[in-house]
Parts: sequence; structure tokens; C-alpha cells
Amino acid sequence: MSIEKQKILIVGAGGGREHALGWKIAQSPNVGEIFFAPENAGTATIGTNIDIKPDNIYDLIEFTKKESIDLTLAVSDSVLALGIVDEFKRASLRIWGPTKAASQIEWSKAFSKDFMRRHNLPTAQFQTFTDFEKAKEYITNHPLPIVIKADGLAFGKGVIIAQTIEEAEKTLEEIMIKKIFGASGNEVVIEEFLVGPEISIHALSDGKNFKMFPSSQDHKRIGEGDTGLNTGGMGVIGPLPFVTSEMMERIEKEIIAPTFAGMEKDGNPFEGILYPSLMLTKDGPKIIEFNARFGDPEAQVYMRLLDSDLLEILNACVDKKLNEVEIKWKNEFACNIALASGGYPGNYEKGKEITGLPLPSPSPCQGEGKERGEVVIFHAGTTMKDGKLITNGGRVLGVSATGKTLEDALQKAYKAIGHVSFEGMQYRRDIGKKALALSK
Ligand code: AMP
Ligand code: GLY
Repeated sequence: MSIEKQKILIVGAGGGREHALGWKIAQSPNVGEIFFAPENAGTATIGTNIDIKPDNIYDLIEFTKKESIDLTLAVSDSVLALGIVDEFKRASLRIWGPTKAASQIEWSKAFSKDFMRRHNLPTAQFQTFTDFEKAKEYITNHPLPIVIKADGLAFGKGVIIAQTIEEAEKTLEEIMIKKIFGASGNEVVIEEFLVGPEISIHALSDGKNFKMFPSSQDHKRIGEGDTGLNTGGMGVIGPLPFVTSEMMERIEKEIIAPTFAGMEKDGNPFEGILYPSLMLTKDGPKIIEFNARFGDPEAQVYMRLLDSDLLEILNACVDKKLNEVEIKWKNEFACNIALASGGYPGNYEKGKEITGLPLPSPSPCQGEGKERGEVVIFHAGTTMKDGKLITNGGRVLGVSATGKTLEDALQKAYKAIGHVSFEGMQYRRDIGKKALALSK
């Protein structure tokens, strides 16, 4: 088929990741129209927001047929877990992303840990339990702290690190008996606590061939110095100056290659982007968890660093010809810093006016002089109301920048943040600090 002026549909969570992927695709010479489900004020500047919920797969299929969409990108965990890829393929529609069975590596922690054990992948030692009494007995002699994970997708809150046996017992009761995460608590994984810097790895696979992306690091806690509650991610940097090319080769050889090979061997090949979080322990890199999609905000940094046509790469991936394309990366560093609503990740108000940004326009850039173009603002929880840009979610904006050094990129992003404001705006001022200290 021709890849001239393709129509693209991006189905996801309507966040910064989706804006960044669309922003990069919009730069392809082969792109025609881009559609988003769902939307934010940023995606509206580069494409058409469609009024179909991302979990309404059948209406999306209808839309895709009616509009003759050439390629759909399934980019969020929840749509993958619903089996959007399987349904589109059944309808003979081109879609990029892993099947429901392949994305189980993210949506079931028990499946993913068993997979790691079966294929001898390095990870924390663990046991899985469906019986509360047995789980309680197991933790009695377990070294502290104890990591307890609810099996299914629990909105990033399903992992508890208990410092005492009492806390661990209480956690098990809440998850398995009181079901605070619903059916996700039918099965729990109890595992060893790993120590070391935590990093994000991404690798793209067409089911047969794969390509490594540079390393990156998210900052998941709301508070500076990695304190407070877990969030979707408050800031990311990449590539990591403390991760050597030798370490990346080791990660590829010990983790990525055997994971893709294991999935193929199990009759469950992975097509899409695999994003494991790793802990670089003193005994080598170990897997904390697998995600079956781009990280948010990791995607924002990757889109700033990518020096090739994303659309061409994803088309090659869907056509199982990833070996035929080259993925080039800029010889630079990038960061993306989240500006969040006051109260996030707890309750927060929406509808606050955002000032200091140009109103959503085809070029979502911010900055002065030579900074212009080096700072790009990705929208997440934003919308337009009465001609004003207002907040509409927990993570509101991502301020990204590139530079010859990580310090340089961070400095530009923080300078740009100085122009932006909305009532209650909060962000971490220490993004990248830990990585820079480790690189000294
Ligand atoms: P998740 O929701 O699976 O991303 O986990 C949340 C966070 O818990 C991770 O980003 C890690 O920082 C931490 N974590 C998960 N498993 C472990 C482990 N076995 N040892 C230490 N920290 C862990
Ligand atoms: N970077 C956090 C996530 O995407 O899950």
C-alpha cells in the first residue's frame, strides 16, 4: 500500500505522551490528517479531536473505516488491556501496538513475574498468592522492607513498600480482603526490595526484530528528593549520563533480547514498544516491571531526541520490517518537566486559567531568542473554554527542552517554566539532580 499522506488515529489517554507522539508524527512528510481520541488543547493544534471514548472500540472501528484511516496507534495501557489491537486486526485494520495477550506483561503482574521466572530474566525474588492466610504466613519471616503488588492495573497505586510486618499485614488485608483496588487484589505478588538507581528502558519490536531506545529516568514521587505519593511521573531526563554504552549492551543482552525471544517462543510475540523499569543493583540490572507502551513522560523526551521520521518507523514496525529502517537519535540531552495542579496526585480543582503560554497554535513553542524551538510545551490536562486555556487534569503541561548537556537542557526548561502560571501550579525543582550527582 502507498504510504503517501497517511491518515493517522491516536487512541490513548489524551495526555502529554499523546501530544508528543502526534507532534512528532505531524513533522513527517507522509502524514495527512491526524485524529485524536481523546483530546487536549495541545493535540487540537495538530489534529482533529474526535468525540469517541477511547474504550469504545467498536465506534472507533466504524470511524476508522469511514475515514479510511491508514494507521491507528494504540498508546495507553487501558486500551491495550481492552484488546483494541486484537479487535482492529480482526476487522483487517492497520494498528500499531501489542495484542491483549502480549500486553498482559503489563496488566497482570502475576503473569509478568511468572514469565520472568520461566525465562530466567533478572528480577526481584517473589511469590504470588491468591490466599490471604498463605500470603500472611509468607511475610512473617520475610526480610524488610517487603514489596506488595496488586495483580492488575491499579492506576499506579498498586505497589506498596511495607517497612514493618504489621504494615505488610495491613496492606495484604486492604488489598485481598477489603479489595481497595477491586478485582486487581484477587492475586498479589510479594517480592524482595531492590536497591539502586531506577531507570526506564524502551525497545521497539515488530515481533521479529527490535531496536533499543536511549535510557531515560522518570521522577515518580510528587515531592522533591523522591518523597510523598507516587504520581504518573513528574519529570524525565534522557539519555542518562551515568548509564554507559556497556551497561546498555548488557541490558539489551540480558533483558531485552531474551524477553522478546521468550514472548515469541511462548507463541505470544510482542509488537509495539516495551518499556521495562529497571533497578541497577550491585548484582546487575534487574526488572521492576514491564510496561507494554510508551512511558508518559518518557515519550516526550524520546520525541525530542528522535532524529528520524516516527511515522516511517511505526509503519515499518506494523509491516514487520523494522530491520529495514534506521532510527537516528540527536546527539543531545532532553528533559520534560510536569506542571501539575495543586493537590495532585490527590484531589485537585480544574478550570484554572493558564497564563504565559501562547494560546494553542500550530507551533506549541515557548521561549525567547535562541531558546525558541529548543523549548517545546506538551499539553496534558488542558482545554479551551471561552477563548481561554484552562487546566483540565492532574498533570497539566510538560515543559521540554534539549541541550548539548543535561544541565543545559534543564536550565532552559526551568527558565521557560518561569513564564507559565496557573493557580496552585506545582512542579519539582530537582528533576535530573540525582542523575547529575551519579554522573560526577
Ligand atoms: P509500579 O507502580 O510498578 O511502577 O511501582 C512503583 C514504584 O515502586 C516503582 O517505580 C519502584 O520505585 C518501586 N518498586 C516496585 N517494585 C520494587 C522492588 N522490588 N524493590 C524496590 N522498589 C520497588
Ligand atoms: N513513566 C511512568 C509511566 O508511564 O508509567
